[in-house]
Amino acid sequence: MKKLLAASVLILSACASAPAPEARTVAAVAPAEAPVAKTWNTLTGERPIVIAHRGASGLYPEHTILAYKTAIAQGADFIEPDLVMTSDGVLIARHDLYLSATTDVADHPEFADRKKVRQTPLGEHEDWWADDFTFAEIQTLKARQQFEGRSMEYNDQMDIMTFDEIMDLVLAEAANGHIVGLHVEAKWPGHYTEIGKSLADPILNAMKAKGLKEAGIPVFIQCFEPPFLADVATKSDIPLIQNLVGAPYAAMMGLDYKLEDIPTAGVGADVSYVFNKDGTRTDFVDRAHALGLLVHVYTVRDDRPDPGFADSRAEFRALFDAGIDGVWTDFPATAVEVRNAE
Ligand code: G3P
Ligand code: CA
Repeated sequence: MKKLLAASVLILSACASAPAPEARTVAAVAPAEAPVAKTWNTLTGERPIVIAHRGASGLYPEHTILAYKTAIAQGADFIEPDLVMTSDGVLIARHDLYLSATTDVADHPEFADRKKVRQTPLGEHEDWWADDFTFAEIQTLKARQQFEGRSMEYNDQMDIMTFDEIMDLVLAEAANGHIVGLHVEAKWPGHYTEIGKSLADPILNAMKAKGLKEAGIPVFIQCFEPPFLADVATKSDIPLIQNLVGAPYAAMMGLDYKLEDIPTAGVGADVSYVFNKDGTRTDFVDRAHALGLLVHVYTVRDDRPDPGFADSRAEFRALFDAGIDGVWTDFPATAVEVRNAE
């Protein structure tokens, strides 16, 4: 809009200083709101993508059918399943391998003795773990909203979705002429490696079996663990995103990222990489772009704007101005609205 205004001012001042008859004629027929193509500061110059973080998870329990369908209806370019695997090898959408935060597992007395302490990359945690359950058992659970302050109205009603079901959603959209991509995250693949299993092969095989490529579904695969991405890179040409945790967690997890050495198509960076606490911009996006890396940023939330921003709209605007290539959000409708108004 600012550019539109500037263009109008230029036309007006040109007319005032040199009113050649031809110029007046052009000005008279030019539409008042002639569209001005937005210039994006993204790596490719294309507009940034909106990634529905666990679906429209600000409105509905994450990774549920309502969360995903709403995100698609709201115009998200990608939906984001976080994937873990059951004991019998079924890929399901959960942000964590543990289940208590987002399901009713604690209310199932038949599973009381499954609660166990595990050592995780972030320390010890006692919980119920998805890979201790068969898929049939997982199917007896229902999803819950985990964030305080959000609607609990839909708790304990919707099933835990499989990756196959999520792929079917975007395939059905594509069949109706609406292309929505999948931004797939493999969760804690190192754990599966430790117990002699692979997350990479089941994910890639499932995508192949569903024919995502043939259906023209855009796909990214993201992960916080470099070895997983290195493995996938040897098996597929799907663009990969190396997720980056903030410095304190990186140290806890023994990760030491050097932007220059990242071999993937892009990085998934926390907002704190892009902005300082007062909302001013770092040089992160410019440095990443100079290295040819896409920058996808997590996670903008209407109900929890990051430090330095009055609300999520301001945060989205600042991210788009900074040139980010994609943004994860629990509220895709807001991101789409802000981006489309730019
Ligand atoms: O995957 C990147 C983005 O989703 C943020 O991470 O922890 O919410 O999966 P997380
Ligand atoms: Ca994720």
